[in-house]
Amino acid sequence: MYVCICHAVTDRDVKAAAAQGIRCVPGLCRSLKVGSQCGRCTEFAQKTLDKALEKVSVGA
Ligand code: FES
Repeated sequence: MYVCICHAVTDRDVKAAAAQGIRCVPGLCRSLKVGSQCGRCTEFAQKTLDKALEKVSVGA
């Protein structure tokens, strides 16, 4: 599923970023450009990242 349409970023990309240590939407913006164009995706990106981080911390 797409998280950021403008930059074709999927939930898998966000999960991979979380596994690599990204912990906030500004971090996603720097690494994947999430939210850097229209900005409509930032709330969903935050929710997707939060879920991914829960799994990362459970797996740690
Ligand atoms: S949908 Fe992410 S910047 Fe537009």
